[in-house]
Amino acid sequence: MRSMEKSIMALLIVVIALSILLQGATAVETSPTVIVVGAGMSGISAAKTLVAAGIKNIIILEATNRIGGRICKTNFAGMSVEIGANWVEGVGGNEVNPIWKMVNKLKLRTFVSDYDNLTANTYKQVGGLYKKSEAQTAFGAADMRSEFSTNISVSMSAHRQEDISILTSQRLTNQVPYTPIDMAVDYYTYDYEFAEPPRVTSLQNGEPLPTFSNFGEDLYFVADPKGYETVVYYIAKQFLTTDADGVITDPRFKLNKVVTEIRQSRSGVIVKTEDGSIYRAAYVMVSVSIGVLQTNLINFHPDLPQWKILAIYQFDMAVYTKIFIKFPYKFWPTGNGTEFFLYAHEKRGYYTVWQQLERTYPGSNALLVTVTDDESRRIEQQPDSDTKKEIVEVLRNMFGKNIPEPTHILVPRWWSNRFYKGAFSNWPIGVSRFEYDQMRAPVGRVYFTGEHTSQQYNGYVHGAYLAGIDSAKIMIRCIKNKDCKYHAMPKGT
Ligand SMILES: Cc1cc2nc3c(=O)[nH]c(=O)nc-3n(C[C@H](O)[C@H](O)[C@H](O)COP(=O)(O)OP(=O)(O)OC[C@H]3O[C@@H](n4cnc5c(N)ncnc54)[C@H](O)[C@@H]3O)c2cc1C
Ligand SMILES: *[C@@H]1O[C@H](CO)[C@@H](O)[C@H](O)[C@H]1NC(C)=O
Ligand SMILES: *[C@@H]1O[C@H](CO)[C@@H](O)[C@H](O)[C@H]1NC(C)=O
Ligand SMILES: *[C@@H]1O[C@H](CO)[C@@H](O)[C@H](O)[C@H]1NC(C)=O
Repeated sequence: MRSMEKSIMALLIVVIALSILLQGATAVETSPTVIVVGAGMSGISAAKTLVAAGIKNIIILEATNRIGGRICKTNFAGMSVEIGANWVEGVGGNEVNPIWKMVNKLKLRTFVSDYDNLTANTYKQVGGLYKKSEAQTAFGAADMRSEFSTNISVSMSAHRQEDISILTSQRLTNQVPYTPIDMAVDYYTYDYEFAEPPRVTSLQNGEPLPTFSNFGEDLYFVADPKGYETVVYYIAKQFLTTDADGVITDPRFKLNKVVTEIRQSRSGVIVKTEDGSIYRAAYVMVSVSIGVLQTNLINFHPDLPQWKILAIYQFDMAVYTKIFIKFPYKFWPTGNGTEFFLYAHEKRGYYTVWQQLERTYPGSNALLVTVTDDESRRIEQQPDSDTKKEIVEVLRNMFGKNIPEPTHILVPRWWSNRFYKGAFSNWPIGVSRFEYDQMRAPVGRVYFTGEHTSQQYNGYVHGAYLAGIDSAKIMIRCIKNKDCKYHAMPKGT
């Protein structure tokens, strides 16, 4: 009896010990190699690149309840509109924009944006169109300024001179825009693209712009009920498992996980989320916007080094707001050459750039007006009813008193949103390529990606996509080849 009890006890101990050992083993196995923070274009692109290189043991933590980040559709009065990225920018050039390839493969509905007829569609502050000749003078002067800017940018770069602002290059022509029409054209030329004024935007990184010089001058507007975000899902589904309905069910992908802490030691990283979960891994890839990095939503332990903090805080997170507004009927011109129009006001950037959606959303009776920077921040903080009043007043100035009240308005708030803090990065004067590269540089086991780390295309969807691949490759070099030294851009390039 006794000896039997003993042997049973011994067996039990062996079983318990074995199961502890096994559990330990599985725990080690499930502890991922890499945690990716954020499931926007860059995070998904980086994760796909890691998996393709055989690093399959990953976890993606996304703060919101969806994939896509700043590529985001929403329902506006029954139509699917894009509140984030809307265009594939850079089409028709020598190189093919990788996003353009995907958009075509997925057969998304796109429309080339033709801004050529703006000279016939520019409105005065108090109403009525500018005479075509007057508008042509303003656009001609803007073209000349821009060509001059490109010329001196190229020659200053060749001589390794320090950067200047786009405004400084305009001063050199003695043609700083100050009349309402000149300011409207200037706003359309720069702010509508960079979401910040020429006063702050870097000349050397803005003119010429690699997006247009490499991929082409054309812009294609995505207006598809499936949404522009389809491109992000398309990449995600190449490496994440889905169910029969195409819903992502991969256990490596976790929504509603707000990362609040990233702690690294010599042996690994610990990532904490707002709901109290703790994840361990060997490395982390952070893909949140530069706007989020400039807040303390994510606490880094130990603190990021001074050089990294300075690089992050020097760059700009610009604000760009697409306001959609719908009316019972149209009271603006439609037909060829009327899609885009400008409103010239003494206050620069006051509801300047308009797009009527007749072609892209037939029968919608809707307009899209874009504001940026300080106007965006002002408008985000006021009730939509006030914004609606301002817009109706502007439209009354343009089209007369007898216009109907709008039925719907949509004012996206990217700046107030703690997961974005703006729309996209803009390269300000005073940041060299060396400092820019430091935004991407890893700190120990913590790696960085996102549109703001793209070598040539910061601020764009294709920039986010290519940055994800590039940052993943840097990490792969470290994991697979033990080459963990970051080869920073040399100073003065
Ligand atoms: C209004 C607007 C208009 C634009 N227009 C265009 C355009 O026409 N064409 C173009 O090419 N580009 C455009 N862009 C830019 C383009 O959308 C972005 O460059 C690109 O989508 C950024 O991708 P990303 O992966 O770098 O960042 P994000 O899309 O911001 O992805 C980061 C992800 O991290 C998540 N996150 C944030 N904080 C945390 C946290 N603490 N824990 C976990 N997850 C977190 C976010 O929710 C997000 O999903 C526009 C952007 C905006 C906002
Ligand atoms: C820009 O440079 C080109 C080529 O050198 C020249 O033909 C053109 O006149 C210049 N434009 C301006 C506005 O300086
Ligand atoms: C508009 O332009 C298209 C293509 O250039 C042309 O086929 C069409 O006839 C034009 N429509 C009108 C009303 O002029
Ligand atoms: C340009 O716009 C004007 C005014 O809206 C319109 O009448 C004209 O047909 C357009 N021209 C072209 C070439 O599209």
